[in-house]
Amino acid sequence: MRQPIIAGNWKMNGSRDSIRELLDGIKAGMAEVNLAEVAVCAPYVYLADVEQQLTGTKLAWGGQNLSTEASGAYTGEISTAMLLDFHCKYVIVGHSERRSYYGEDDALVAKKFAVARDAGLIPILCIGETLEEREKGITEQVVARQTKAVIDAVGIQALGDGVIAYEPVWAIGTGKTATPQQAQDVHASIRNMIAEHDAGVAAKVRIQYGGSMNAANAAELLAMDDIDGGLIGGASLKASDFLTICKAAG
Ligand code: PGA
Repeated sequence: MRQPIIAGNWKMNGSRDSIRELLDGIKAGMAEVNLAEVAVCAPYVYLADVEQQLTGTKLAWGGQNLSTEASGAYTGEISTAMLLDFHCKYVIVGHSERRSYYGEDDALVAKKFAVARDAGLIPILCIGETLEEREKGITEQVVARQTKAVIDAVGIQALGDGVIAYEPVWAIGTGKTATPQQAQDVHASIRNMIAEHDAGVAAKVRIQYGGSMNAANAAELLAMDDIDGGLIGGASLKASDFLTICKAAG
């Protein structure tokens, strides 16, 4: 059985004070989370605080992006070694906001996945279609193309070392969630496509849903066969909502 994983993606939100309060709240409720693995992906500058507050707890943490370079003259960038210095376990790669606002294409995202995995981080690979692509009926082709770019770059076994987050772009931060069936259909198509390469990897790889998952809708999304957790933006900024989602995962 795949262990569900709930990860908070804080994006560019929070302050030292608000993050301390948020993590205190999450830690206080973790005793009631039985099954799910729980992680938070913080802005880089807060990783030291997150590490300090979460070391010795069940919670893991990670970054939201990384450089493909190891070190050197890359102003503003953060390397895998730096993330590991703060004991990050996860790193998000290819979030739709990175793809659309910062021009990250499939090839760059695949390279980031490879660099993260080679360094011993667990990449959370984000994929998903825009509203226009959904309306054209090409959702499955889009997520297959995005996934295949990573398989081509790193191989199918390495893909299985990561986590996949299916996040329909039209559902991110909009309050418009995919219905459980809509999400399940895409998750199943991703898993089937992976199974064409390797049935073992398809059976074990965790596929999170992301896009306006919240305390009210998490249980029915997480009940679907191929939904193995959530990547949570807005609702991860409130401890009680985030914990409700974690508990809904078991
Ligand atoms: P949201 O964001 O939960 O605020 O829609 C999810 C994400 O972008 O990972």
